[in-house]
Amino acid sequence: MRRNTYREDEVLETPFNIKHLLRAFVYIKKYAAQMILALILSALGGITMLLAPMITKQALDVAVPQKDMNQLYMLALMLFGAYLLSVIFTTIRSRVMTKVSQNIIYNIRGDIFEHLQKLPFQYYDDRPHGKILIRVVNYVNSVSDMLSNGLINVILEILNLIFIVVFMFLVDVKLSLVVLAGVPVLAVFMFWIKNKQRKAWQDVSNKNSNLNAYLQENIVGARITQIFAREDENAEIFRELSERCRSSWFKAVSYITLVWPGIDTISVLVRAAIFLFGLLIFGQGHETLGTIVAISGYASRFWQPIMNLGNIFNNFINNIAYLERIFETMDEPVTVDDAPDAIEMKDMRKDKNSGRVEFKNVSFSYEKGKEVLHNVSFKVEPGESVALVGPTGAGKSTIVSLISRFYNVDKGQILIDGQDISKVKLKSLRSQMGIMLQDSFIFSGTIADNIRYGRLDATDEEIRKAAATVCAEDFIKNMKDGYDTEVKERGSLLSQGQKQLISFARTLLSDPAILVLDEATSSIDVQTEKALQTGLNAMLKGRTSFIIAHRLSTIIGCDKIMYIDDGGIVEAGSHKELIEKKGAYYKLYTAQMQDLGQ
Ligand SMILES: Nc1ncnc2c1ncn2[C@@H]1O[C@H](COP(=O)(O)OP(=O)(O)OP(=O)(O)O)[C@@H](O)[C@H]1O
Ligand SMILES: [Mg+2]
Repeated sequence: MRRNTYREDEVLETPFNIKHLLRAFVYIKKYAAQMILALILSALGGITMLLAPMITKQALDVAVPQKDMNQLYMLALMLFGAYLLSVIFTTIRSRVMTKVSQNIIYNIRGDIFEHLQKLPFQYYDDRPHGKILIRVVNYVNSVSDMLSNGLINVILEILNLIFIVVFMFLVDVKLSLVVLAGVPVLAVFMFWIKNKQRKAWQDVSNKNSNLNAYLQENIVGARITQIFAREDENAEIFRELSERCRSSWFKAVSYITLVWPGIDTISVLVRAAIFLFGLLIFGQGHETLGTIVAISGYASRFWQPIMNLGNIFNNFINNIAYLERIFETMDEPVTVDDAPDAIEMKDMRKDKNSGRVEFKNVSFSYEKGKEVLHNVSFKVEPGESVALVGPTGAGKSTIVSLISRFYNVDKGQILIDGQDISKVKLKSLRSQMGIMLQDSFIFSGTIADNIRYGRLDATDEEIRKAAATVCAEDFIKNMKDGYDTEVKERGSLLSQGQKQLISFARTLLSDPAILVLDEATSSIDVQTEKALQTGLNAMLKGRTSFIIAHRLSTIIGCDKIMYIDDGGIVEAGSHKELIEKKGAYYKLYTAQMQDLGQ
């Protein structure tokens, strides 16, 4: 799909299909028993309520004229009992249904989240994260009511309708047919309005989604907003997005206001037809006035459940737009997935001579037509450390992210120990890789939780050792609760360098066979970095490693240095060889040394 922003509506890639609704049944099926119970309770509640007028009638017509106090007490008790029962039934129903609806939310959310976690980086690159959030939180909430209560109400209203039709036919068949003649008119009307409404609600969901995307971006970027004093401009943009939500909502709702008058008009016309047909055509002395009045009474009742159904239908239309989004997310293809015949990657940690990485004519682009890597080939022997250097945007991070198959290559192959990585199980590949991304991400939780993130069974001692190796011990010990200090979301309690040290320790702790460090020490002071180098050298031993650094002092000791630029490797060799070559690396190195010398 095209990249999407908060300014643009998302295009639904899989428009509405009845399959969506049928598929939703998967989530309801499990609760069939509870839903049937709720249905029965509602029906019982309705029937007990219907008893009340009969009891009142008995009281007024029989007990009061006869001044039968005993009977009156009985009837009063029965009336009270009927109300009580009805209240009990309705309360139980709403309790049962609240549970069902929460369970549906729980299950759908679980499934979406599970799927989201499998989706490739590309998916997250392509759309604002706020638009993903709104699907998992708001849309799921919204559809759950339709799937639980909405469905039951539909059945109840239909039953109600059937009862009314049966009673109507018992009174008079011909006039009942006149009433039913209104149904096709209604069907045409509903069909016309349905399409308009669906589009309108889709627009509402798009506009809400845009607003959410902007909101999310602004919460994350709140600091930058204040640094650049952009509050007023941002508020203006937010107001504009909000205004679009409001007007799209008004438009969608305006159709609802059409539905009722529409049904009402049809209802009035039908009643007029009853009188017309009853008196003039069929009548001719055969139809009694009582029959006409009775049928007319039923006819007015007949439209009530239809109006209710119209109301539920409105709600359905609205929610179906959400359901589409939910299933679209669940159907989003996991483009980076295990091949059907994928095999387990062998455990490289068990064999000292494994961990050979080879790129064979690899080409790659994030977006079609914009190649970032072109025909890249290189080999890294087991245990070798390779540094990737080169200008910003050259493709260094891209190369290392391909080794873990975060993206699929467009052309060529990446081999580890001769095995094409697109043919092995992702989990077996990634669990052996230790990757420290350029932007070190810290989760909410304690420092220890963050270091333990990739190896949940690590002991406290192992955590301490990993932290010591990367020289993070000192600062951790100085924190309020040491390793148990809560670092808050995104590690807001920590400095940039401290965050890097923690994510460094996290990567080391996972004991990877292949280590990737992308600017792992860029925010760390030179002294700490030097101290860290010793620990790091010990860690690098026996592991194939890729190190990206702009600060060249960090990578001088690497076995091999590759200079990346313009989507490919410009030159490669050891530090000594490249210096002698006096090429791009030499220029970069001398420029840095000069700066340091000044
Ligand atoms: N997720 C992405 N979607 C689209 N283009 C991307 C994405 N990530 C990187 N690029 C583009 O790919 C090119 C290479 O990016 P890459 O991150 O590999 O550079 P780099 O060499 O690591 O740079 P730096 O030294 O600044 O980290 C850049 O031109 C960048 O614009
Ligand atoms: Mg990078």
